[in-house]
Amino acid sequence: MKGTNIYPIFDKTVQRSERETLLRQKGCVVWFTGLSGSGKSTLAIALERALLEKGYLCQLLDGDNIRSGINNNLGFSEEDRKENIRRIAEVAKLFVQCGVITLTAFISPTNEIRALATKIIGRENFVEVFVDTPLDICELRDVKGLYKKARAGEIKEFTGISSPFEAPVDPDLTLDTSRLSVEESVELLMNTILPKIKIKS
Ligand code: ADX
Repeated sequence: MKGTNIYPIFDKTVQRSERETLLRQKGCVVWFTGLSGSGKSTLAIALERALLEKGYLCQLLDGDNIRSGINNNLGFSEEDRKENIRRIAEVAKLFVQCGVITLTAFISPTNEIRALATKIIGRENFVEVFVDTPLDICELRDVKGLYKKARAGEIKEFTGISSPFEAPVDPDLTLDTSRLSVEESVELLMNTILPKIKIKS
């Protein structure tokens, strides 16, 4: 059986609280979910910059980066997307244990997939941000030209076209980048996140 003869040493290592004291911040995961082209990466990049300027250490995990590295053996079937998110959630959990504010930008299209991520990371460490930019706007932007290919049938199982996207049920924050500027979104993000990451003095 997998997992037999494995003896984790989590209890013996330096504790998360000690690392958080060192970094003067509390770790958490800011989980961006939304369609391809909705603005997840743009907001995560801008948020990381804004947090850095305030002295907070972040790590950004982004779909296309992760899929060209640690997850380069995964496709877009339901099963592969689930494994993609499971690994990312495990990696994010390691960063949170390190006291780092971890920003993740993955479509993570279903409630089941996001529930899996929440369970791995822990609800208390998880801030869900729904980048709720309408499909027609994402398709109009078509930054990577993928919607055009998906409509032409050249990409199978494309989210929003031939593969489902379920809106989150109760996100911590919803942002529509067709109505808000990047600066406005970052301000709303900061208002949500700062109380969670500040160490009270
Ligand atoms: S997820 O569904 O498993 O969370 P992830 O965020 O890692 O997806 O990857 C999405 C990115 O992969 C998209 O932004 C796009 O650039 C690219 N991509 C390639 N094929 C597909 C597809 N079939 N569906 C969605 N995105 C795709």
